[in-house]
Amino acid sequence: MRFDTLLVQSGQRPTSGAGDAVPPIHLAATYERNVQDPQRYYYGRGENPTREELEECLAALEDAGFATVFASGQAAASAVLSLLSAGQRVVSCDDVYSGTDALLALIERAGVEVHRTDLSDPGRAAEALGAGSRLDLVWIETPTNPLLKIVDLETVCRLAHDRGALVVVDNTLASPALQQPLRWADISLYSTTKSISGHLDVLGGALVYHDERLHERLRTHRTVVGNVPGALDCYLIRRGLKTLSLRVARQVESAALVLAALEDKPSVGAIHYPGLSAHPGHRIAARQMSAFGSIISFEYLGDHTKLLEQVRVFAAAVSLGGVQSLIECPASMSHAAIARQALLSRGVSENLVRLSIGIEDPVDLVADLRAALRAG
Ligand SMILES: Cc1ncc(COP(=O)(O)O)c(C=O)c1O
Repeated sequence: MRFDTLLVQSGQRPTSGAGDAVPPIHLAATYERNVQDPQRYYYGRGENPTREELEECLAALEDAGFATVFASGQAAASAVLSLLSAGQRVVSCDDVYSGTDALLALIERAGVEVHRTDLSDPGRAAEALGAGSRLDLVWIETPTNPLLKIVDLETVCRLAHDRGALVVVDNTLASPALQQPLRWADISLYSTTKSISGHLDVLGGALVYHDERLHERLRTHRTVVGNVPGALDCYLIRRGLKTLSLRVARQVESAALVLAALEDKPSVGAIHYPGLSAHPGHRIAARQMSAFGSIISFEYLGDHTKLLEQVRVFAAAVSLGGVQSLIECPASMSHAAIARQALLSRGVSENLVRLSIGIEDPVDLVADLRAALRAG
């Protein structure tokens, strides 16, 4: 089956005997002991059919062996980092989601060495991943949040694998509809809170990968730590996933119109979007993504607080990838937990504004932004 068919049909196991066209939600926290098959279902923290249906679908979308879902993107990320121990070394993109940055700081305190660098810069990537200090894990985000930098997955994964390191790609911004990291990397990571569920009404995370030994370690970690998503949340995420391609196609189309509306405005400085031919990662993005996504960031030369107050169709809120368009200022909102100086050193200024384009009528989105830019 092809991608869009898998979105609708993969992992759907109607089991009630009533002929449900949609699988029932399995709410049980415990299961009656099954003497015939004692390993199958035992206790909800370990296994749940509704959760498994979502996992089957996420694995199928990337033609992967396995997927493991978590209670949030952060929980998925911390499961990956739980694979590390003191004395090991991570190289990570410097421009990452602030929660990832906070998790990296936690493992640094536990004795793991973390080297942050701009992996979208080929020279810096080669330097950081070249022979020398040990290398155990490479953490890539592409496009990055919030600067929309593009990391060359093929090259960086090859360098990392030459050193025997595991590579994880946070594919949240692109989603599996636009980018398939497992063509090169070992683990695709998602905040399923974003495009995968798509409706800004549920939190979740996922890891998708091929390796069976990795699967055992990640499953054991999840069962022991207990950061499992509930069955209702898994159902909502699975339901949202059915329309992923439709939503993303519409969002990408509207992003192009919003971009055009930003381009000639005197109050708009540099625009960061990999679809722009002047973007340093444009050619690599064109090679490894099927479209450039629906997140745009730009330097706003006016008062950004006013801009956020002026919008009527966009909601001033963190998060991204949902049906509703959002606007935010990373330095004071999504990435506020990172020290100002550290943000500035990686190019995130107070003036940076991030847009997440939803599925509303693009005419309304453009008109809203134009009016807010005029008034701000
Ligand atoms: C790129 C990226 N990765 C991970 C996360 C964390 O996901 P969650 O909020 O579901 O824990 C986010 C959240 O904004 C994100 O933008």
